[in-house]
Amino acid sequence: MINLIKDLLRSIYFLCSIQFLRMALLWTFSVAFSHYQLFKDSLFSHKIVSYPRSSPSTFPNKPICVITGATSGLGLSTACKLSKEGYVVVIVGRSEQLLSETIKKIKGWNEDAHLKAFQADISSAESIIKFGTSLRQWLLDSDLHCSVQILINNAGILATSPRVTTEGYDKMIATNYIGPFVMTKLLLPLLESSPVSSKIVNVTSFTHRAVTNMQVDEGTVSGKRFLKSKQYPYAQIYEYSKCELHILNELM
Ligand SMILES: NC(=O)c1ccc[n+]([C@@H]2O[C@H](COP(=O)([O-])OP(=O)(O)OC[C@H]3O[C@@H](n4cnc5c(N)ncnc54)[C@H](OP(=O)(O)O)[C@@H]3O)[C@@H](O)[C@H]2O)c1
Repeated sequence: MINLIKDLLRSIYFLCSIQFLRMALLWTFSVAFSHYQLFKDSLFSHKIVSYPRSSPSTFPNKPICVITGATSGLGLSTACKLSKEGYVVVIVGRSEQLLSETIKKIKGWNEDAHLKAFQADISSAESIIKFGTSLRQWLLDSDLHCSVQILINNAGILATSPRVTTEGYDKMIATNYIGPFVMTKLLLPLLESSPVSSKIVNVTSFTHRAVTNMQVDEGTVSGKRFLKSKQYPYAQIYEYSKCELHILNELM
């Protein structure tokens, strides 16, 4: 009973905090503005934007898609959808148990799914490098073409308390931005060896629009600056991490 009251008080405190109110206001505005822009573009622009990707029918062997954070949410549905399209889906997650449960789940929806799971922590460069080595080895041992057709950097978190990675970065920035950056750089040779056009998809967020004074110093990009703050500005860090990822998208 005491714990229940404590949780209730904590929730009320969270809902009344400046951070939450800022998030409710700015994020709603960001989403509304993005929808307005999409609507405006659909009315006044006749340019059809298409993002062609390799179709399993045109690929000499089965095409491969690597997706991070596929054990739940958007990642899980994307993994399932791509498996139905005929992709060999490589799912990456932190927990062996969640990964095997995910494989069972996707197989339940699509018994023909070709899946392979790798355990890796996207917030750690060391873990991503180990994953890269295992992925290459697995590709060499299999009868698949030694390349990747789609990389989806989907794993992301919104952490409300500060955590530092073993490499000394803010956990949220490391997961949402540094990890995808390292993963992309590591898999670039495999994406470039694809006999058909390959794709990188970075899952960002409308909330990146809330960033007004983007700074690119080492302290901000690594998140170390935020770890020194008295109160962890989690909403701003999330926005920053997604803005950094958005800039990466623009550069590619
Ligand atoms: N949902 C939304 O409304 C929304 C809106 C805008 C943008 N997004 C973005 O869309 C992406 C997916 O969101 P979601 O709502 O589907 O998230 P979710 O259901 O919370 O799933 C997050 C996934 O990321 C994985 N993950 C988290 N930290 C990881 C780490 N260090 N290493 C490896 N995997 C890690 C988790 O896997 P494990 O726990 O198994 O490791 C999980 O599978 C995120 O990047 C999010 O920021 C979501």
